[in-house]
Amino acid sequence: MGLDLDYIDGQTPLDEEEKDGLLIPTIATRGELDEFEQQNIEHAIQWTLGRSFKSEVIFSENFIRTVHKRMYSNVWAWAGEFRKTNKNIGVDKWQIPSDLKYLLDDFKYWYENKTYPPDEIAVRFKHRIVSIHCFPNGNGRHSRLMADIIIQKIYKQPVFTWGATLSFSKGEVNLSSQGNTRAAYLKAVKAADKGDCSLLLAFARS
Ligand SMILES: Nc1ncnc2c1ncn2[C@@H]1O[C@H](COP(=O)(O)OP(=O)(O)OP(=O)(O)O)[C@@H](O)[C@H]1O
Ligand SMILES: [Mg+2]
Repeated sequence: MGLDLDYIDGQTPLDEEEKDGLLIPTIATRGELDEFEQQNIEHAIQWTLGRSFKSEVIFSENFIRTVHKRMYSNVWAWAGEFRKTNKNIGVDKWQIPSDLKYLLDDFKYWYENKTYPPDEIAVRFKHRIVSIHCFPNGNGRHSRLMADIIIQKIYKQPVFTWGATLSFSKGEVNLSSQGNTRAAYLKAVKAADKGDCSLLLAFARS
């Protein structure tokens, strides 16, 4: 059975070889895929909840990949592996390791020098990593979980809500489905592309 996916605004399409990495052959639709991925992500969140991670662990390529692997390895064979194809979002595939290294170095500098308040460090990191787009898919959810890990494990602050209040008031599931919450999220991401993080910072706590 083939995987027939429809895409909503701001999602990265998978190519055929990436679709072949599907580990659960009975999944045929976007709805089924979302559900299995969500179950896998919940296991990853459980894994982070009971653990403490030192900042030097979090600031590493290995950890970035491990989190993606924990989120998607029940569903995708390429979980935790950098993408081998170019996408409509993100840097050239060959540039992923070096751009990630720049980001991790910047992040270490921001952390050590307290360049920004904690929420802003986490949200800037989230925006930079999703702009690199390290993986074939799941980059948005991975970037949000990374920001949650940074704020919770490094700064001992509550995790972000990522528009949950807005979703609830509009009767929407979350920002991964089409609707007002996703529109607000993408507007905030695009403002951050132009250098203004304020909308994304506010969205993260809304
Ligand atoms: N113009 C843009 N600039 C930077 N990032 C963008 C832009 N448009 C979309 N994105 C990011 O790409 C993500 C989608 O990438 P991908 O499909 O790999 O992630 P996902 O986890 O499957 O999706 P989602 O974030 O929708 O749940 C969005 O979450 C958004 O953060
Ligand atoms: Mg996607």
